[in-house]
Formats: sequence, structure tokens, C-alpha cells
Amino acid sequence: MAKILVTGGAGYIGSHTVVELIAAGCEVVIIDNLSNASRKVLERLQELTGAEIPFYRADIRDRDALTGIFKKEEIESVIHFAGLKAVGESVEKPWEYYDNNITGTLTLIDVMRKHGVKNIIFSSSATVYGDPAFVPITEECPKGTCTNPYGWTKSMLEQILMDIYTADNEWNVVLLRYFNPIGAHKSGRIGENPNGIPNNLMPYITQVAVGKLQKLRVFGNDYPTHDGTGVRDYIHVLDLAAGHVKALSKLSPGSGLNIYNLGTGKGYSVLDIVKSFEVATGNEIPYEIAPRREGDIATCYCSPKKAKEELGWVAQYGIRDMCEDSWNWQSHNPNGYH
Ligand code: NAD
Ligand code: UD1
Repeated sequence: MAKILVTGGAGYIGSHTVVELIAAGCEVVIIDNLSNASRKVLERLQELTGAEIPFYRADIRDRDALTGIFKKEEIESVIHFAGLKAVGESVEKPWEYYDNNITGTLTLIDVMRKHGVKNIIFSSSATVYGDPAFVPITEECPKGTCTNPYGWTKSMLEQILMDIYTADNEWNVVLLRYFNPIGAHKSGRIGENPNGIPNNLMPYITQVAVGKLQKLRVFGNDYPTHDGTGVRDYIHVLDLAAGHVKALSKLSPGSGLNIYNLGTGKGYSVLDIVKSFEVATGNEIPYEIAPRREGDIATCYCSPKKAKEELGWVAQYGIRDMCEDSWNWQSHNPNGYH
């Protein structure tokens, strides 16, 4: 049976997607260099799926390692999650981000085409819209100016994949622009495991709730939003994972290049999230208002209409599930996988 190679499959979104893929009857092979993931994820994936998933600890920049995988496994399609993703770190280490994300992807697609594998789903981000020209953001919204090297790697990789498709129409490329993924698997066995102090809102809140951090700093309350705090489109990671399974339908011959937003279409402010978390979990989240964070925008939420119409995908989970499941993961794994 033809297999799906999942790059970065030991990471947060990749691991949840592997569970969904196996539930949908797919055969999966994982490559991950474990630069931002734990080996324990692989044990837990086996526990959750009952499947022995072939795992290669290797870097996608390692051409020989990739070639070995394509020779050994019968790969039909690639879902490409592997990449560095910390916005602040990318400003400090631009070379490392461009090398890992761009060189890594260029190496991957070269090895793919040399083995006649021309089907790829790529993890892009709402960050490519910059400060969006309009909301709700549709896929027609022009791409914007990114505020950091991480964002530029996503924007550039989208362009690279579009150019590869233009030059060779045998490729089938799906660019998935994720909004703000939160939540965790219902079992509480896999979830987001940030290194050090979290940069993103939900892991910060759950670490306050579990007592690892004292209080949340709300970055700015003077944005033009209903309560002055930043508004985002939070999406349950299980819905995101399901979106990848649906997107496989766009890798069939002649599908070409397709771009989809994956979000719920609903915007929640920072304070909405704090309140929802308190109600859903019974934890109180102390917070203080702090200055705006550089590079942040006021409002970002999508129109998920295209994914509904063309993929038959609609987010199933609401904000309560997202809060409950983030908390279930954090409270059962206060130190992540450590
Ligand atoms: P993650 O860090 O948990 O997962 C990425 C995985 O890739 C990690 O397991 C890491 O070890 C691996 N990896 C990194 N560089 C590699 C390399 N050179 N070779 C092999 N493996 C490598 O991140 P995530 O949150 O699961 O994100 C997955 C993808 O989705 C990333 O490309 C990210 O940029 C993108 N994305 C994430 C978000 C988000 O909020 N989490 C939003 C938009 C887009
Ligand atoms: C951030 C990245 C974006 C990336 C996305 C992945 C920036 C500028 N953008 O988006 O490129 O694709 O993560 O998930 O970093 N907030 C607080 N206090 C905190 C943390 C966050 O008030 O401690 C606020 C932020 O100001 C924002 C909202 O919470 O309004 C969400 O922040 P975050 O989870 O970091 O996501 P984004 O900024 O949307």
C-alpha cells in the first residue's frame, strides 16, 4: 500500500495528524530530527493507534537520509510539517530559520521529484497575510508583509511551491494556512510541548493554571477590538488534523495547486480566551495588562468557506473543547513529555 511520509510527525500538529491518518486507514512513515519533539511521542502514537509506525530520526536537509527513505518505503504523498516555528527566535537566528525551513524544503522536494513523488501538503500559516487587508480573511486576500524571518520562510515556501507547480503540472500541491491551533488529543496523551517559557497564548495560560507561571501578561488592551485585546481565530488541533485528511483528496492526479485557510471563522479576544478557560476548567487565571508585543496585529480570523465547499471540511470543536482539552493535556503532563 502506498504510504504517506509525514515530516515533523513527532511535533504538535504532526502527531495529531498521524493519529487521524491512521484512523482513516492510511499507512504512515514519520521523519523527524527531534529538534523540537520527544521520542516519547512515538510510544504514545503507538499506544493511541495500535500501529507500528516506521520512524526515521533524520533531518530533512540530509539528502542521503531522505533518499534512503524514498528507496525503502513506497511513498505516494508527503505532508510536510517539519520546520522551526518560534517567531522571536527567528529574529535572533535568521540564518538558522532560512536554512532549516527553506534548504530543508528544497532538499525534500528535490528528492521527491527524483523519486517521481509529486504530491505535497504544506503547513503554511495565517502569518502570510501580514496585517490582513480585510477580515474575515479569504484565500483571495493579498499576502502581506511579514514581521519576522519565520513568517517570511512560510511566505517564500508558498511561492517556491507555486513556481515548482507552474514549471511542472504533474505536481499536486496543497497549501494549508493554519490560524491559531490549540487543544490536544482527547486522551491527554499527546499535546503541545513548548520549550522554555511559552510564547503563544494557550500554553502560557495552561502553565499559569498548573502553577508553573505566576500570571498572564495581556499584550495590549488598546486595539480596535470589542475589549481592546487582540482577536484571533483559534482552532482545535483535532480539527486541523482532520483538515489534512480531507486535503488528501486534492492530491489526486490533475488536482494542481490549491490553497485553503484552516480556521473556524470565529474571532476571540485574549480576554475572551481567559474567561472561556476559567469557565471550562474552573481555574482562575490572574493577569495584568502589559504593553503591546512588537509585530502583533489587532484582528485575524478567516473565512473557512472554501475548505467547506471544496474539501467538505468544517471545524467541529468550539472554544470550550479547546480549553478543556488543552487543560486535560497540561494537567496530566505538567512537564510535557519530560
Ligand atoms: P512542532 O515544532 O511541534 O513540529 C515541528 C516538528 O518538525 C518537530 O517535531 C521538529 O522536531 C521537526 N523538525 C524541525 N526541523 C526539522 C528538520 N530540519 N528535519 C526534520 N525534522 C524537523 O511545530 P507544530 O506546531 O507542530 O507546527 C508544524 C508546522 O506547522 C510547522 O511548519 C509550523 O511552522 C506550522 N504552523 C504551526 C502553527 C502553530 O501555531 N503551531 C501555526 C501555523 C503554522
Ligand atoms: C503567533 C505568531 C505567528 C504564528 C502563530 C502560531 C507572532 C507575532 N505571531 O501568532 O507568526 O504563526 O503564533 O501560532 O508571534 N498574547 C498575550 N500574552 C501572551 C501571549 C499572547 O496577550 O503571553 C496575545 C497576543 O498578543 C495575541 C494573542 O494572545 O493577541 C495570540 O497570540 P499567540 O498565541 O502568540 O499567536 P499569534 O500572535 O496570533
